[in-house]
Amino acid sequence: MEVRPLTGGLGAEIIGADIRSAEQFGEIQEAYSEYSVIVLRGQSISPEDHLKFARQFGPINVNRFFKPVDGHPEIATVLKEKNQKQAVGEGWHTDHSYDQRPAMGSILHALEMPPYGGDTLFASMAAAYDALSPKMREILDQLSAVHSSRHVFGADTLDSEAAKSGRLGNAKAATQEAVHPVVITHPLSGRRGLYVNPVFTTHIQGLTNDESAAMLGMLYEHCKKPEFHCRVRWQVGDVTMWDNRATWHKAINDYHGYRRLMHRITVDGVALT
Ligand code: SIN
Repeated sequence: MEVRPLTGGLGAEIIGADIRSAEQFGEIQEAYSEYSVIVLRGQSISPEDHLKFARQFGPINVNRFFKPVDGHPEIATVLKEKNQKQAVGEGWHTDHSYDQRPAMGSILHALEMPPYGGDTLFASMAAAYDALSPKMREILDQLSAVHSSRHVFGADTLDSEAAKSGRLGNAKAATQEAVHPVVITHPLSGRRGLYVNPVFTTHIQGLTNDESAAMLGMLYEHCKKPEFHCRVRWQVGDVTMWDNRATWHKAINDYHGYRRLMHRITVDGVALT
């Protein structure tokens, strides 16, 4: 198995691995801890293999809103049909940050890809935090922010293409709200990193709306710097796993007129401090 770093910020692609192999799991897990995003190229796997791989990291965290794969309620369908305009996950986000114990990782398997585009971008929240001034880090270290699922998956979104087409559903279950520190200590590495994101974070506690919007806007612009990013160019069969406590991600919607189908499994996490 060969591990090739994708950029200086985060991410590695892994050539010659088989996620069905119990012997290789330790090495894959090490690469995941080190790079936060790992791209396991060329996997020939079934949904059962996908689930078995995921369960080695922890219990499955079943997504409430994505259409499940037939016969596999623990696997979410991430789909854009060729006649659809919106992709799932187009905005920079961190999966499940609205939960009290947000999902530790997500594992996406590429089943159908367009002939070009459909890449996924990732950003390192630790690299972004490290690049801030000591004074700004000191201020952020004392703050907490509110995250919610309501405005993204709730009743107000029933008019969206994703809801109307059935790709997303269960709007009445969108009641989650959680408060997390703006800067967390990663539960495994101990590294400090930002934990706010443009999709699910609603505001910073204790600030006025204007102050919160200005602070979050500054942080979001900062995190969008390409120095903190890597880009995954998918091929059918690839499996990418990312750490939700260490990264943001964003699906690039640049393949109109083509179908893209992925299966996603998320793994349970812990409360963040
Ligand atoms: C997601 O946001 O989980 C999906 C990312 C992608 O489809 O590239």
